[in-house]
Order: sequence, then structure tokens, then C-alpha cells
Amino acid sequence: MTQNPLSPSFAEPLAEPLAEPLAPDAQEACAIRVRDVVVGFGERTVLKGITLDVRRGEVLGFVGGSGTGKSVLTRAILGLVPKRGGSIEVFGRDLESLDAAGRAAMERRFGVLFQHGALFSGLTVLQNVQLPMREHADLSQALMNELAMLKLDLVGLPRDAADEFPSELSGGMIKRAALARALALDPDILFLDEPTSGLDPIGAAEFDQLIATLQKTLGLTVFMVTHDLDCLSSICDRIAALADGRVAAVGPLETLLASDHAWVKAYFHGARAGRLLARGDG
Ligand SMILES: Nc1ncnc2c1ncn2[C@@H]1O[C@H](COP(=O)(O)OP(=O)(O)O)[C@@H](O)[C@H]1O
Ligand SMILES: [Mg+2]
Repeated sequence: MTQNPLSPSFAEPLAEPLAEPLAPDAQEACAIRVRDVVVGFGERTVLKGITLDVRRGEVLGFVGGSGTGKSVLTRAILGLVPKRGGSIEVFGRDLESLDAAGRAAMERRFGVLFQHGALFSGLTVLQNVQLPMREHADLSQALMNELAMLKLDLVGLPRDAADEFPSELSGGMIKRAALARALALDPDILFLDEPTSGLDPIGAAEFDQLIATLQKTLGLTVFMVTHDLDCLSSICDRIAALADGRVAAVGPLETLLASDHAWVKAYFHGARAGRLLARGDG
């Protein structure tokens, strides 16, 4: 995005089109470093050169129109989708450079709540939460039971939900159980792909607050795809907007509100964004 120096808006703060470069000594403050990442399927290029930093200990909200590639980027960072170009480092390591053991060790540091990451319907809540433990750790059943109960406490689920099947739970409880599963291995980074979709506004706000509390108490780095403007304004430290396969704007909410990019403008200044606008302008 280029700015016309003669345009009246030149004096306004520039919306930062790319990830802010970090000073060399601040590199380790970066949890995820995405550079010029290109991902496509067949003829179609979905991500055309994504550059983005996720800083250690921040909640980064990732927005973009439906079908623009938010889940694809999430999966690319997790190493689940091959990229055609660019590089991705997590805690300074390129997943592609790691051997199987190194990769498994890295995956243990990821907690993931996929977009349609429902629980396994044939397993109880407790069994669902224990799945990552079975896959990645060698623990006794007694210890796994104890740990899984602690995870239920952490996400605010009653312990008697442990033996229930997903069909017996409300939508909000299912999300919490899925979050407990994502936290099963005490991850450093939590990936959340539209975690509150399908929840009513009150349930969504409660879930957002839970994420915020967990992020602070557990010192998590959170990469969160969300459409929820309330969530973006209340719990995200920074927001990155995806448009046309690139990061169109990134920064705190104020930066996004000041962006000249057409999609970002439409999204953050649209009908649903009345309250944000009032905040940003006031
Ligand atoms: N495995 C795949 N094979 C082919 N196309 C895919 C695949 N995964 C995603 N896509 C396409 O990539 C685009 C972006 O998808 P996605 O990242 O899921 O969008 P969203 O931003 O809504 O999360 C869509 O057009 C989708 O159909
Ligand atoms: Mg998606």
C-alpha cells in the first residue's frame, strides 16, 4: 500500500502494512515469524506473501473475509499445509528443518483449537482431554485422570462433566472441553480458529474472558482467528488483517482503525463497528 504525499490524509498516522521489524536483540521476543509465505492449491494461490510476527506473550487476532486463507495460514504455521514459498519459524526454529523428534517436541508446545475442532463424539470429555497426553506423553492412567481434571477446572467446567459425552453438553461447554484438550500438554502457543463461532454473544464474551485470563495466568502466546469485533477490541493486543492474500494492516486496534486499506476500512468502520469507531475516534 502506498500513500500519496499530497493526499490530505498524509498527516494521519500511517497504517503499518507489514509486520513491524524487530530489532536484532528483540528477535527472541518473537514466537512466530512468518516471512513471504505463499500457499496455493492447484491453480489458486491463497496466500500470496504473508509476513507477520507473533510476539511472545501477546494475543494476536487474525481477521479477514471468509475463504481468504485464515485457516490455511494457521495450518501452514502448524506444518499441516505445504507452502510454495517463504519461511515460518516458531521459537526461532523452522519446522521443516527439524527431524521427527524435534518436530514432535515442537508440536507439544502447540495447543490447537481447530475451526471445526469438535470433540470426538464417541469419547467422554475426560477421554477427549486425554487424547494429546496419550499421543505425546507416557503417563499412567491415574496421572492422566488427575491432569485432565485440573484442565477441566482451568476452563471452568464442572468435574462431573468429565464422564459426559459431547452430545450431552451445551455449545459453550463443548468449546471449553475443546480448550481443555488444547491445553492438555501445557502449550506455549495456543492456536484458536474462530473459537467463539456458534456461541451466543454472552457465551462468546465469557469464552473471550476465559482466554484472556488463561493467557495471563499461563503466560501463553495466542494466535486467534476471529470475526468477533468485541473480542478483537477487548482481548487482542494486536490485530492482523488478511486481504488479497497478504497482511493488509497489523498493529493495535487504533492502527487498524486508521488504515486506508479498503477491506480493513469496510470491516472496522462498517455497520457492526459503531462502538469501535466511537472508541477509536474518542
Ligand atoms: N486442502 C485444501 N485444498 C484445496 N483448497 C483449499 C484447501 N484448504 C483450503 N482451501 C481453499 O483455500 C481458501 C481459503 O480457505 P480457508 O483458509 O479455510 O479460509 P478462511 O479464511 O475462511 O479460514 C478457500 O478457497 C478454500 O477453499
Ligand atoms: Mg477458517
